Amino acid sequence: MKKQLLLLLIAATTLFAACNNDKTATTGKFSITEKPFGKFENESITQYTLTNPAGMQVSIINYGGTVTNILAPDKDKIMGDMVLGFDSLPGYLQKGNPYFGCLVGRYGNRIAKGKFVLDKTAYQLPLNDHGNTLHGGTRGFDKVVWKANKPAGDSSLRLTYTSKDGDQGFPGNLSVTVVYTLTSDNALQIAYSATTDKATPINLTNHCYFNLSGGKEPTILDHEVTIYADKYTAVDSLLIPTGQLPYVKGTPMDFTVSKKVGKDIDSVKGGYDHNWVLNRKGTGLDQVASIYDPGSGRLLEVFTTEPGLQFYTGNFLDSTLKGKNNQVYVKHAALCLETQHFPDGPNQASFPNTILRPGETYRHVTQYRFSVK
Ligand code: GLA
Repeated sequence: MKKQLLLLLIAATTLFAACNNDKTATTGKFSITEKPFGKFENESITQYTLTNPAGMQVSIINYGGTVTNILAPDKDKIMGDMVLGFDSLPGYLQKGNPYFGCLVGRYGNRIAKGKFVLDKTAYQLPLNDHGNTLHGGTRGFDKVVWKANKPAGDSSLRLTYTSKDGDQGFPGNLSVTVVYTLTSDNALQIAYSATTDKATPINLTNHCYFNLSGGKEPTILDHEVTIYADKYTAVDSLLIPTGQLPYVKGTPMDFTVSKKVGKDIDSVKGGYDHNWVLNRKGTGLDQVASIYDPGSGRLLEVFTTEPGLQFYTGNFLDSTLKGKNNQVYVKHAALCLETQHFPDGPNQASFPNTILRPGETYRHVTQYRFSVK
């Protein structure tokens, strides 16, 4: 009898502990843990860590919907963190944070002179990049607090944000949802959706800085890159598209066959910071790029529903930022793979449409699939 009572007590205590443990949601196969990550404008910032059964981990904070860490094994099963970032919130809040890991919106990339005309009305956005607008203005989606929740029984983190009519000069109340999902086969999926009550330009993306060596190699110049694109959007000296879509074949922009980032980079003024016109048909999820680090054996394959990819080789990193584990981020310390619509879409009639209208839903899915070979 005593033994039965004891067992009952143990069972009840375990159940109570499980119900009370609101900091850890376990689905059986996956877990999502939460950790306080400081305060911004009186709002609590939380770091959420998604872990899959294979042990891969992705951490995200609700400030800027920023991916702070992606941990996956190398060919010797040693875990390493594959993204640049900071150990604590002040790092992310500092002025010189070059969009590490964040969500970018309303309009990722550049809008020439911050101007566009939509349905006969002219709009002016804040100018934050040499007289142009970059990544949604002075306070884009990377600098706001997103509302986070964990859908029950899921391996996802769901972030929502409402950008008010007139926010950064853009028209319409825009409701945005971004769902980060870590899959059992080591893919990080980012699913974006949005609706508006007035027509507005939209171009959402993520700005992770990848270095697949997991902190072992100071630059990505030895990473081998393939981009499934025969053309790219030519740009002027301020990286505004000219409207021309030159073929890459036989030029330093040619990544149709895998080559090291460093092979031709010196022939491209400033380094790679261009939008490739992806060879995609339709609107499904297609593989558009792959990045291989021979040193660690890590492979990153990028799949997206978007028509473009900004391949940026960390050209503006200049050793002034001290990141995680006191790492100094030198020029080309990492590369970004920003799946997107083309830069300056609202001013370029020949580019794929970037205007979202009331009654429509913006959708974009990107997967970063990690493995070793
Ligand atoms: C994008 C741009 C780059 C640079 C980075 C942030 O990738 O294309 O020119 O502004 O963001 O530093």
